[in-house]
Amino acid sequence: MMGNTILELQGINKYFRDNTGNSFHVIKDVNLSLRQGECIAIVGESGCGKSTLAKLISQLIPVTKGSMFYNGKDVTNLHGAQLKEYYKNVQMIFQNPLSTFSPRMKIGSYMVEPYLNFKLMNKKEALNYAKELLETVGLSKDFIDRYPNELSGGQLQRVVIARTIGLKPDVIICDECTSALDVSIQKQIIHLLLELQSNTKFCNIFITHDLALAESISDKIYVMYLGEIVEILRSKNISRDAKHPYTKALLNAVFSAKNTNKNIEVIKPQIQDYTIKKGCLFALRCPNASENCYREKPCLKYLNLRCSVACNLY
Ligand SMILES: Nc1ncnc2c1ncn2[C@@H]1O[C@H](COP(=O)(O)OP(=O)(O)OP(=O)(O)O)[C@@H](O)[C@H]1O
Ligand SMILES: [Mg+2]
Repeated sequence: MMGNTILELQGINKYFRDNTGNSFHVIKDVNLSLRQGECIAIVGESGCGKSTLAKLISQLIPVTKGSMFYNGKDVTNLHGAQLKEYYKNVQMIFQNPLSTFSPRMKIGSYMVEPYLNFKLMNKKEALNYAKELLETVGLSKDFIDRYPNELSGGQLQRVVIARTIGLKPDVIICDECTSALDVSIQKQIIHLLLELQSNTKFCNIFITHDLALAESISDKIYVMYLGEIVEILRSKNISRDAKHPYTKALLNAVFSAKNTNKNIEVIKPQIQDYTIKKGCLFALRCPNASENCYREKPCLKYLNLRCSVACNLY
């Protein structure tokens, strides 16, 4: 059973400035809620704003407009000790594990860093704790004395996961955390995450461009297109439930990749789409767009328990 709401985003917006000083709107009015023990997936193609949203949620970058609540408390503009506490509770795992290590730091030092930083224990306790954690993620405790370049990509990602769960966070955001690994290792890491999640009850925000993977591991999928959430689906039978033409196109791309007779329809955001101010962002590429779609902006509508969609057709 799902518990209380842990995290809630209300109308979150983010603007970045380009090199000519113009601001551009990257995250647009995103509402999202995450309940205890839940795993949600955020899916969308490259450049749609997934990592930006992850960084906003983990407060690595500030929100331009909107509010964020954590256990019912407004955490939109935290600083100081409260921000530090938030960093402990909401953890992020990045795509490329190697980039999070410094080459001359032993695995042990890397692992104990946050425990010492947050003054959770002394150095000796932290090292013992790190050894335990390494074994939890299926690695030998002797790895503590190794250097990052002596481990494989999959092993490094296990170390990152071990260190992360050691902090006992409420929320872990995995930003494409398996996409740098080869397929068989990906499966092991996903399996490990799921197992840890069911044992330790953290919530998971899983970011991926792989809709099939999202469906297989999450409870709910948020489909993102050019910084907007265009559809929210229960992760069961999404090929039946998906309504948005963009989600359907993504599904089609998955299925046609398996069927070599069909052409893969790749849908990449076109640069002019960023400049659309009116109507539906997807209209230019939508097979079902009517004239109205270029004028009227669709809002996210609740259709049923399994689907909410932002499309003028519904
Ligand atoms: N710090 C920044 N300053 C300016 N623009 C940025 C910054 N970070 C991201 N962007 C831009 O915001 C948009 C969204 O980027 P983001 O990294 O969130 O996409 P993504 O969905 O994670 O893509 P990918 O799947 O390739 O990781 C892109 O156009 C990107 O160039
Ligand atoms: Mg990204």
